[in-house]
Amino acid sequence: MISLARLQRLARRHGTPLFVVDHDELRRNYRKFRRHLPRVQAYYAVKANPDPAIVRTLFLEGASFDVASMPEFRIVHENIKHLPAKTRQDWIWDKIIYANTTKPVETLEELDRYKPLVTFDNIEEIHKIKKHAPSAGLALRLRVPNTGAMVELSSKFGAAPGEAVDLILEADRLGMVVEGISFHVGSQTTNFENYVQAISLTAGVFKEARDRGYKKMNLIDIGGGFPAPYDATVKPFRELAKVINTEINRLFPKEIRILAEPGRFLVASAGYAVSKIIGKAVRDGKTCYYINDGVYHTYSGVIFDHCKYPIHSFKKGRKRICTVFGPTCDALDVVSMAENLPDLARDDLVYSENIGAYSHASSTYFNGMPPATVVHVNQ
Ligand SMILES: Cc1ncc(COP(=O)(O)O)c(C=O)c1O
Repeated sequence: MISLARLQRLARRHGTPLFVVDHDELRRNYRKFRRHLPRVQAYYAVKANPDPAIVRTLFLEGASFDVASMPEFRIVHENIKHLPAKTRQDWIWDKIIYANTTKPVETLEELDRYKPLVTFDNIEEIHKIKKHAPSAGLALRLRVPNTGAMVELSSKFGAAPGEAVDLILEADRLGMVVEGISFHVGSQTTNFENYVQAISLTAGVFKEARDRGYKKMNLIDIGGGFPAPYDATVKPFRELAKVINTEINRLFPKEIRILAEPGRFLVASAGYAVSKIIGKAVRDGKTCYYINDGVYHTYSGVIFDHCKYPIHSFKKGRKRICTVFGPTCDALDVVSMAENLPDLARDDLVYSENIGAYSHASSTYFNGMPPATVVHVNQ
């Protein structure tokens, strides 16, 4: 945790809106993930926050990476571009997964020379990959329950378990290798049962594939979804890890590689937003603060990620329920309709914690206002 005094000093030095990334916390989160899930190779989901400095710190920790586009691939590739060609190729195969089930042809053509591992979930995609990236290895994304997840993904991604083996056999018939199965239980999953069911469905697909003669699968990718500690209702990570360890050890022999794609878990608690009050009004008897950051900027997760970020003040005082608006001319730009804040004045600073994931990553230039300045600490 960065001290409040330090956050205020940073805001004075760099101005606001400010987005602060604590690299000690990134390292702590990565080590915690590895410690509790020793069998699982952690591929940081770059989409959660693609800042090259974040990728660099996790790279130095030994992380692997899940990328969803060529720009994300290149951010990771920057860290290995100096390696000899063969070492670089092995690194890409061992440590990058292109985990976007639908890829444009141009992307596949560019990806092909890197011989990466890519995901797919339908027959059209198999034929596209066969034509434009025949060197790629495949992982079939399975549709699994996302019950209770903050961000539901199963309506858009994943083959139904009943069609999975047909797809695997079709890829095999075309001469491609399906290396294994991937899934995603939904982001910020606090319902651990989702993992139990997904791992069990995956084991069922492995068995059916073997029974029907396909024996080349050697990995499962348990995706993301590992919850960030946004509030006290989120159970400790070690409890989820225990459930996952039990299920993977019960259902998959040691030779099967286990991958995961944590995004939020690694980066959420490493990010802080500091902004200042630029206006104040009373509307229908309720105090409304206008701050210089909002849902088109660092608080974009309020819209896209269905996430809430409590706003805190550095000042003390008797608190009242108030509204916090962002700075743009859109009435959608509401950070919160119900924050508990003391009486604040123009230029007073406010901050949010746990805002490192899916926040700055989806910031825009709407109304000509640029994303918050980023400051890295403890790098
Ligand atoms: C394919 C894939 N992998 C990993 C992630 C990261 O998920 P999380 O941030 O919940 O760990 C996402 C997030 O949407 C995703 O779509």
